[in-house]
Amino acid sequence: MTVEAFAPGKLILMGEHAVVYGHPALAIAVNRGMRVRLHSRPGATGIDHSFADDPRLTEALHRVLPVAGVGVEIESTLPIGRGMGSSAALAVALGRASLKLEGKPVTSEAVNERAFAVERIFHGQPSGIDHTVSMRGGALLYNRTDIGPEFQRFELPDLPIVVIDSGSAGNTADMVRSVAERIEDVRPYLDQISELLQNTKAALQKGDLVAIGQAWHENHWLLRAIGVSTPTLDKIVRVAAESGATGAKLAGAGGGGVVIALAPNPGPLLVAAKQNGWDAFEVRQNESDENQR
Ligand code: MEV
Repeated sequence: MTVEAFAPGKLILMGEHAVVYGHPALAIAVNRGMRVRLHSRPGATGIDHSFADDPRLTEALHRVLPVAGVGVEIESTLPIGRGMGSSAALAVALGRASLKLEGKPVTSEAVNERAFAVERIFHGQPSGIDHTVSMRGGALLYNRTDIGPEFQRFELPDLPIVVIDSGSAGNTADMVRSVAERIEDVRPYLDQISELLQNTKAALQKGDLVAIGQAWHENHWLLRAIGVSTPTLDKIVRVAAESGATGAKLAGAGGGGVVIALAPNPGPLLVAAKQNGWDAFEVRQNESDENQR
């Protein structure tokens, strides 16, 4: 028996790290993701081919699959560990596929429970935004409250987003921990990130690229102030501006990973990224899919 499931990756457009402290963040699911295929076969459960050398993967598989009898194939169109929600997409796809394998209904509740359990293996104490947006698709405003997550759909026009990969991975659990260790010093910056999102909502909904770009720049420098940027990420943001982007920011936990740039004319930025040795590509929002794959 073979079953398969897909889940998209994500980009946080504004509000990462602040979201861990109860502020809202805006994220979109993207048109890249993870596909997981499971099939019955003798022997210990494991990945059929070498995918990524990460011991957390085995733990993740064991969280949702029997210890023996399942072969796992994983295909990714996301860069791994770069802030594009590769672990969340894997968690959601694995949650969906494992339910199918057991012949159980693929409900939001069941997928959420499995996906969040897997996300915690990769990210320690995540806010839950990554796997929620991967599960729901589209654009979501998400915040974590004392009684659980709250999220609502956010109507966004199609934005001309270019992703530039710094070429190094960031570790989300470490970055979240490093912010937590300095929380009293950085809290004012997190409050400013939250205000910035609040003040940019109208521009986002109108697709005002100049105002959104300006806000992304400010968001980036606030993330830098809390210590999660790197010299390479700062350089990418500068190169993006010099190449005609209206704004750019790191996206995700930082410490490596990707920058997103708003580039109405992406050509010069794609060329500049290549000249600097950075992989760069355009992304689109993935529409809402509510568990159907
Ligand atoms: C990671 O994609 C986003 C962070 O805000 C962590 C989280 O929300 O769990 C840095």
